[in-house]
Amino acid sequence: MNTNLSSLFHIAQKKVLNIIGLMSGTSLDGLDIALCTISGHGHETKIELSAFKTIPYNPAFKAEIKSVFSKKEVDLEKLCLLNPWVALQQAAMINEFLQQENIAKEEVDLIASHGQTIYHAPKAQHQQEQFGNATLQIGDGDHMAVATGIITISDFRQKHIAAGGEGAPLAVYGDYLIFSKKEEDRIMLNMGGIANYTYLPGSLDANKIFSTDTGPGNTIMDALMQREYPGTYFDEDAAIAKQGTVNEVLLKALMDHPFFEQCFPKTTGPELFNLQYLQEAKEKTGLQNLSVFDTMATLNLFSAQTIAAAMQQTMAGKSDFHLYASGGGMHNPLLMQHIKTLLPQVSIHLTSELGIHPDAKEAVLFAVLANECIAGGTIHFGDHHRGVPTVTMGKISFPW
Ligand SMILES: Nc1ncnc2c1ncn2[C@@H]1O[C@H](COP(=O)(O)OP(=O)(O)OP(=O)(O)O)[C@@H](O)[C@H]1O
Ligand SMILES: [Mg+2]
Repeated sequence: MNTNLSSLFHIAQKKVLNIIGLMSGTSLDGLDIALCTISGHGHETKIELSAFKTIPYNPAFKAEIKSVFSKKEVDLEKLCLLNPWVALQQAAMINEFLQQENIAKEEVDLIASHGQTIYHAPKAQHQQEQFGNATLQIGDGDHMAVATGIITISDFRQKHIAAGGEGAPLAVYGDYLIFSKKEEDRIMLNMGGIANYTYLPGSLDANKIFSTDTGPGNTIMDALMQREYPGTYFDEDAAIAKQGTVNEVLLKALMDHPFFEQCFPKTTGPELFNLQYLQEAKEKTGLQNLSVFDTMATLNLFSAQTIAAAMQQTMAGKSDFHLYASGGGMHNPLLMQHIKTLLPQVSIHLTSELGIHPDAKEAVLFAVLANECIAGGTIHFGDHHRGVPTVTMGKISFPW
């Protein structure tokens, strides 16, 4: 037997695994590194976050990714070069993290690498008859495995699409295993570049569970900040949005898109929700000269309203829902305030109350997927197909 396979066989049988979960989202803010200690699998999964850090990307890294990110046409040679380069940059960050935390690479069983999303193209968005759902993450797993010396599981989203999903949101699998609670209706809301949530009914009925994108989280706000204030990446503590007034006419125009009418589950990305989307809404309403303050105030409420509207639909008049927020958007006080105001019947918490740091949650969920890939099995959601195929996700890369 190939010795790589025998070490994998050994890892698969261990009672406790140390898995590094990685997340690098559409906001391009940095690499989330979550070292998780995981025992069991499926509904028996027990998880502890042993160490966590977000290593910010430097401006040069961001610029390289932005040169191809969510663009219909790109320099193909650049894309080809970036695929291994991103993996090597991230591997260097992991090696640095391990050194700082005083952890030997031998103590880590697996890396679960999400990669960097470059383009997300569900069929409902690209609308080309002969093509299906598609998504592309770069940061090749083989390069990461060789550069870290750790078996790497990567490229999780392709299997999801191959088996009938849209490749996102994948949070539903881990949310279901880790956060379901009997007799408590929960919504796990993640506000990254795009906002998404998983509905976990207190009945634990797997057929009713689903995960969906709701639309923009921070992505349009970030893009506007970056254009208006070069060198700034986001509206820290909503300082700009708080100085403006919501423009109801623009808000209505922003809300007017077929994505919001589509059934759950659905996915989207900055390919749709970007500055051009904002520009078109401004042109339609003759508000091209609206101040950046008022525009930011409106965009902030736009994110909150689309999140709240989707949730209202899921809650269907039921009260006593528990919302657990995660992702960078929960640091935006105005966004959180709007959500509270729009959903008075919901009690709002952070995932830290469930033992998972809200900035680490997405990275932790990829560690859970890697654990299932190697030591667990498929996660079954019943026979009603709701965009959550029963599959094992991730590709295995050996270090030698
Ligand atoms: N103090 C803050 N005030 C306002 N916004 C903040 C603050 N801290 C973080 N954010 C927002 O959070 C964003 C980063 O969020 P996060 O890392 O969850 O997103 P992501 O990397 O795109 O991940 P995902 O894949 O979940 O979309 C930042 O770009 C910014 O918009
Ligand atoms: Mg991030």
